Order: sequence, then structure tokens, then C-alpha cells
Amino acid sequence: MELLVLLFCVQSSFSIGSIPAGHLLPLGFQRPPSVEIDEFTPENAPNPEAFFQNYLKPSRAAVFRNAVTNAEAYSGWSDEYIAKHFGDLEVRLEGKKEKGSFIPVGETHMGRDNLRHFIEHSKGPDSRTYVVSELPKPMYSGSTVLPSVGACGEMAKRFVEIDIWWSSGGSKSMIHKDAYNQINCLYKGTKYWKLFEHKYEKWLHKHWEPENEIGGFSDIQVDKVDMLAHPNIAKVPWSNITINAGDCLFLPKSYYHQVDSSQTNNLAISILFSRFDGRETLNMSDCTSETDYRTARPLSEFDVMWEWSGHGMMSMGNGDFEENFRKELFSAASEFDNVGKKITPEILAEYYGDDEDGKIKLGNYTKAISVMDTNNDNELDVEEIQSASWEQIRQFGLEAEHFEPSNSYDYEYTAVAYDELLSLIDDVLKQPEVERKNFIKAYVKTTGGTTTFGNKVFTGLSGSEDVNIIKSKDITEEIVDKALEKWIFYQGPTPDFDPNQDEDRDDNADDDILPSEKQVHESDFRDEL
Ligand SMILES: *[C@@H]1O[C@H](CO)[C@@H](O)[C@H](O)[C@H]1NC(C)=O
Ligand SMILES: *[C@@H]1O[C@H](CO)[C@@H](O)[C@H](O)[C@H]1NC(C)=O
Ligand SMILES: *[C@@H]1O[C@H](CO)[C@@H](O)[C@H](O)[C@H]1NC(C)=O
Repeated sequence: MELLVLLFCVQSSFSIGSIPAGHLLPLGFQRPPSVEIDEFTPENAPNPEAFFQNYLKPSRAAVFRNAVTNAEAYSGWSDEYIAKHFGDLEVRLEGKKEKGSFIPVGETHMGRDNLRHFIEHSKGPDSRTYVVSELPKPMYSGSTVLPSVGACGEMAKRFVEIDIWWSSGGSKSMIHKDAYNQINCLYKGTKYWKLFEHKYEKWLHKHWEPENEIGGFSDIQVDKVDMLAHPNIAKVPWSNITINAGDCLFLPKSYYHQVDSSQTNNLAISILFSRFDGRETLNMSDCTSETDYRTARPLSEFDVMWEWSGHGMMSMGNGDFEENFRKELFSAASEFDNVGKKITPEILAEYYGDDEDGKIKLGNYTKAISVMDTNNDNELDVEEIQSASWEQIRQFGLEAEHFEPSNSYDYEYTAVAYDELLSLIDDVLKQPEVERKNFIKAYVKTTGGTTTFGNKVFTGLSGSEDVNIIKSKDITEEIVDKALEKWIFYQGPTPDFDPNQDEDRDDNADDDILPSEKQVHESDFRDEL
């Protein structure tokens, strides 16, 4: 025993010969934590002005103990309560990644479930499924907003997206950063955070990404750090933070973090808000001596840019109405104004880099413009952009944002690989006849997809919902292409209609399978919080 302890100490504090400290040990053993994070109670928490000046602006994290213990999510959200009151609402699902990637299947869709079904079928202690989703709006009233952000002032008016993280624990994220400022409050369980300031990015072995990305994650394997491959992690001072139910963590934009969730019911709600890049002051004109700086108010009292109903298309990863849409459109429009031009659909297509993926058509931009086009000239000018309401910007964004399949019911068309599906069909067609129910079984087993989509493919092959047996010799390549047309649409070669298509371009399906890497938004790398 003593020997073991001794060996452990030696290995974690010194280099033995050429083996660096912490080699092949979990993240954290490469050097002791050394960056202190300020902690507050509800009694001494800063007001929004002090919070902005002392934490947000200088990019300092902060911990708020017992900040949201007045919320219903803290005291009242048992599984039974959630199933009863919110059971029909849907959430997005992810799979724990340790044993290879997989995408969980909910009651009706891949990567999506309603909360009742999730609680009944996917929430056991051994579950590999967890919820990483936009929070359905009917659940807003159950969580509360830290007064340091929400009591008054401009931060409280700049909530971009609200997310829920819910698992049975045991999940670990990579080291990564997110685009927005966030207040991450824990309502159930415990989370262990390791924090790394953005200024140390150069030592974090950031994974290569295409340019224009403001997101990022590290190549370091957090369970077993390979110090020979990733030696610089030992240079990075870090913070070791434990967050318990009722506590909140303020994580500044682009601050690197790695999170372990305890092996229990683990439920966090995260408020993502504007970056406020370059802002020296914020508008705090509504902060007065009357303001209540101590009570965390329900989230349902706040406006949220991308609020989500709990059904249909989600908007995870979409842009900030003010800092992305309005600001960028405004600066484009002002530039064009100088040469007597306004914003047209063609200009938007170019601006959003449609030539890169060809999936969003000019029609979407025409519609997007019409939402804000108050003088009906089919163009946008500076005044129209300046006066656009959030509802107009929301409608604009829904048309103009790049389509993210994992936000939609079409996820399975990108999650199940076209090549895999093609070889499954090849295989199945080796028999002279194929029955619908057998095909569906094979589809589900091979691809991990849903019976619904297996059924769709069979209907495509058989030509009708009423035909339950196909003869393999009747199935031509054309029929297969037609049956898989949605897969080809999402994963196949760049469509012909794209006028900017480069003729010599390698038809690499991967370009289209990884739409999330194209988004300007880095929270796609929130593998798990
Ligand atoms: C970090 O904090 C946790 C929880 O308090 C503790 O168990 C762990 O030993 C700490 N890690 C280091 C390296 O100090
Ligand atoms: C500051 O915010 C208030 C609302 O809280 C608003 O009425 C006012 O116009 C804002 N001032 C500026 C300069 O934007
Ligand atoms: C673009 O237009 C199509 C057809 O009207 C629509 O289905 C789609 O939701 C629109 N938006 C995006 C981002 O593709």
C-alpha cells in the first residue's frame, strides 16, 4: 500500500527519466491546479455592472453557490414530475462516445425523443444516451436566472439560446470551447469542471479545423493523456471546480473546459448569451435603486432569441440576432450604400458562402429578405435592418442559417451513411426475394436507424406502401437511387444546380456529412457538459 502511494506520488509530481509527469494518466495529473476562481453566495454576488466589469469583460470565470435553489427544477423536477408535465416535449439525444460513436434512437426518430419515452426507456444508470438539447420553452419557468446577469441591464436582454444537459452521469467531455458567454446552472447531480483560460490555447493541442471557425476542441485524450504526443498541456495553469446542484458557473466565451458528470441523475440548464466583443460598457440604464439584485427570477420572464417550442426544427447553434445578423447585415448594407447598392438575395448567397455547400437556394434568401423588407423593393437597406424586430430577425435567420441536420427530423439521412446503406441493399438483394419486415429488421440492425426509415427505404424499393415482397431481379440501379434520393441529397456529390461548383472538385461525401463543422458556431463541440 505504502509503496503504491509512493509510486503514485513520484509519477504524478516528477519526471522519471524521459517519461513526463502524468503520462497516460487522466487529465489533471500533469500539473496541480493553480488558478483560483472567485466564488459567491447569493448575499455577496456582484450586480450586473460589477459582474460585467470584473468578470465578463476580463474573461474571468466565477462560481455562484446556491444561486438557483429557489427554482422548481432544483426542488421539484423528479422524473415523474417531468414525465407528467413535460412528457410530450421533445429533446435532442446524443450517445456517450467512449465505445465508438452511436446516435440513440428515441420513440420516433434518431437523435430525438419525447421526455416521457426518454425517462421510461433511456435513463437507467447504464444508459449510454443523454439529452443535449435546446430547452423546450414550456420548461423555462422551472429554471431561474442568476441576478448578476439577469437583475437588469443589457446582458439580460441578450440571451441567445437555452440548452439542457441531462444524463445518468458518467460522461466526460473533451477539452473544448463554446462561442457564447454562458451561465451553466446545475439542478441535479454534481459536475467536475477543469477550466483553461483562452490565452493558453496555443498549448492545448487544438484539433485542426477549417478556417473561419471560432470553435475548437483539443486532441488531448482526457482519460489517458499522452504526454509524448501532447506535452504542452503540462504548461497550462488550470482550475479545478466542483459544481453541485443549485450552483451556477459563469463560463466566459471561448474559455476552454472539460467536464465530468457524476454517476447520478445529472441535469444542467445553460443560458448562452451574447459575446459583447470589444464592448467597454453595457447599457445598464434600467438598473436602479429599486432593482432587486438578490432574487433569481424565472427564465420565462426573459426574452430569448432562439426559443424553441419543444416540437419540430430546433435552432441549436444559430447566430446571435444582434451581434451576428443585425450587425453583419448592417455593416454589409452600409458598405453597399456607398456604391448605391442594397442587399439582394444574390449578395446574401455570396455572403453566406453558398458556393461552399450549394444546399441553400436563392429562394431562401429571397424569402429571408422579404421578412425585413418593409418598403417592398426586394432589397434591404440600412433603415430596414436597423428597425427590424427580433421576430423579423428570427424569421430571417430561419431562412438564411445553414441547415443543421441534427436539428431536424431528417437527421437520419445524414447519420446513417449512404455507403453503408448501399452495401446493405446489395447484400439483401443477393436473395431472390426480400420481405418488408425482414428488410426493416436488417436496416435497424446494420445501421442503428429507426424502423420508420427502414420502412421508407423498402417502400422506395418496392414502389408502394402496399407491396410487402420484392423480387431482387426487378430492382434496378435507378430504383435504388430513387429510394435513396434523400441520402444522396444530403450526402451525395454537390448538386448540379450549384452555379459555383468547381468542376474539378473531389466528390468527397465527407464534405457534406459534416455540416456542423461548417457552422460558425463552436457549441457543436459541446460533446457533453
Ligand atoms: C479536483 O477536485 C476534486 C473534487 O474536489 C478532487 O476530488 C480532485 O482530487 C481534485 N483534483 C486535483 C488534481 O486537485
Ligand atoms: C438602454 O436600454 C433601455 C432599456 O433598458 C432603452 O430604453 C434605451 O434606449 C437603451 N439606450 C441605448 C443608448 O441604447
Ligand atoms: C429554405 O427553403 C426550403 C423550401 O422552402 C425550406 O424547406 C427550408 O426550411 C428553408 N430554409 C433552409 C435553412 O433551408
